[in-house]
Amino acid sequence: MGILDGKNLLITGVLTDSSIAYHVARLAQEQGATVVLSSFGRAAGLTKRIAGRLPTEVPIVQLDITNADDLANLADEVKKHVPHLDGVLHSIAFAPEAALGGNFLNTEWDDVKVALEISAFSFKSLGMATLPLMQERGGQLLGLDFDATVTWPFYDWMGVSKAALESTCRYLARDLGPKNVRVNLIAAGPLYTTAAKGIPGFDEFGPMWQRRAPIGWDTSDPIPTAKACIAMFSDWFPATTGEIIHVDGGVHSQGGP
Ligand SMILES: NC(=O)c1ccc[n+]([C@@H]2O[C@H](COP(=O)([O-])OP(=O)(O)OC[C@H]3O[C@@H](n4cnc5c(N)ncnc54)[C@H](O)[C@@H]3O)[C@@H](O)[C@H]2O)c1
Repeated sequence: MGILDGKNLLITGVLTDSSIAYHVARLAQEQGATVVLSSFGRAAGLTKRIAGRLPTEVPIVQLDITNADDLANLADEVKKHVPHLDGVLHSIAFAPEAALGGNFLNTEWDDVKVALEISAFSFKSLGMATLPLMQERGGQLLGLDFDATVTWPFYDWMGVSKAALESTCRYLARDLGPKNVRVNLIAAGPLYTTAAKGIPGFDEFGPMWQRRAPIGWDTSDPIPTAKACIAMFSDWFPATTGEIIHVDGGVHSQGGP
């Protein structure tokens, strides 16, 4: 028996086998969930290939989180595979190169707005697009965060986007709670994924994190983060919403070294 027996989940953001979302999908199936993935454009081929490694075959629906038609069609597309959703994972982020890597003071709005739309506003878009599938029975909208209460080297406008995501989480919790949907974030420590490799200077995070984490941190191990997502999708956090749960080896709680 698994802790997600009988649950239906929509999981976005499976790109490669390093994607956090891939490990959430795998563990979710192992814990008894029925999983639907989403992908889009050129990424769809990669998603399809990597989805083949999951324990059970999964349908993949079309979703570019910035595309109004995809968002409008999402509930109907998902309904072709499952009648309702118990949980939705938002595992989506992107910032143009000019918005990362120490160019903070010179980044143009055109680049900033792409980062904000794909990495923060999209949490609201996904919540609204899937609301019809969660509202009746209750569900959970879960996103992935990187602690935005402080600055980080190189993270720049993605850091600002994560701060916007954290605030969006609280407002969504306020407005979707009465509609039967809990909204939470998992704030993970640094993990070597495709998105992370796109951040110049990301290599410096690993040793810094290992030094500061009271219980250590392995940048090549997405399992603690994925397990936290599974726990949140289970029945064991029924009264938690608007929350940011840190899965970072404890770094957020330490002032130094
Ligand atoms: N890797 C880390 O160190 C780390 C730490 C904390 C939080 N996170 C967050 O975890 C989430 C997943 O990232 P990841 O590290 O697994 O990397 P990843 O590159 O595997 O996943 C990012 C996903 O975003 C998707 N995406 C980008 N633009 C999109 C769009 N317009 N529409 C739909 N999907 C789009 C990509 O296709 C990809 O699947 C992100 O929100 C990221 O910020 C990552």
